[in-house]
Amino acid sequence: MKIEGRTFVISGGQLRASGLGRACVEDICRAGGYVAVLDMNEELAQELVKEIGGGKVKFFQTNVLETESITAAVQGALAWSKETGKEIGGVIAAAGVSTPAKIIDRNGNPFNLDDFDFVMNVNVRGTIDLIRQCLPHMAKVTPVGPDGERGIVIMVASSAAFDGQPGQVAYSASKGAIASLTLPMTRDLARYGIRVVTIAPSLFDSRMTAMMSDKVRASLTRVMEFPLRPGQPHEFAQLVRQGIENIMLNGVVLRLDGGMRMPSKM
Ligand SMILES: NC(=O)c1ccc[n+]([C@@H]2O[C@H](COP(=O)([O-])OP(=O)(O)OC[C@H]3O[C@@H](n4cnc5c(N)ncnc54)[C@H](O)[C@@H]3O)[C@@H](O)[C@H]2O)c1
Repeated sequence: MKIEGRTFVISGGQLRASGLGRACVEDICRAGGYVAVLDMNEELAQELVKEIGGGKVKFFQTNVLETESITAAVQGALAWSKETGKEIGGVIAAAGVSTPAKIIDRNGNPFNLDDFDFVMNVNVRGTIDLIRQCLPHMAKVTPVGPDGERGIVIMVASSAAFDGQPGQVAYSASKGAIASLTLPMTRDLARYGIRVVTIAPSLFDSRMTAMMSDKVRASLTRVMEFPLRPGQPHEFAQLVRQGIENIMLNGVVLRLDGGMRMPSKM
């Protein structure tokens, strides 16, 4: 699908110097697309809107934990796409959280189930709810090209879906769920000309990874294959763009990890 002249809904795309969602916002706008950014912080996002300019980005304050909040944002994005005349081309669900905790701690106490629910609710329920609410509209847009394509769903899993590390039971469960539901969602949506692509990044520079200690960072670099550095957000955005543009990418979980496999001990 051509990005130019289409609107993409991106969750987790607000202003950060880094941030995977944000890199996609910039990349899609550069390619002539429009982006409805769904995220939590109004102030940060308005800076992004100003920075990109040209009326190509619109922010909708959203908490993906709340269905009504998503509904309001999706309605807003649709109204905006009507105004601009740029039909919805896809949804990129990049909002995500991680709350590391071992399943039992040093004292033998089990981890808090509320923390587990929080990660599952943002990463799985929030992802599905956003996609679920965009789909009725995506299924009705004008099909394009000889194949009658209508749109794309891009989800973000993680290396942790396959090689989760100590303390990642909740995060791995959530990202494994995203990887597993990619194929059935693809099969559900094929008849509408809507594709599904999931990207599973390893270590990428972002706010999430900035919180890692130097020790953790250094030990992760030691287990990298090539290149010996974390991925950069623009490299993630590059694969998202390919996902949108290459119609043969469908029903797939693409590892984006430079061959790296996360070790158990660091
Ligand atoms: N950075 C990495 O190394 C890495 C690796 C694998 C997977 N990922 C995944 O990539 C995605 C993007 O992460 P990132 O690294 O850019 O982190 P980030 O923290 O910079 O971005 C996450 C975004 O999600 C938003 N968000 C969190 N909870 C939300 C909620 N309830 N409602 C709405 N928005 C919410 C945040 O405000 C933030 O803008 C996540 O799904 C993450 O799990 C990141």
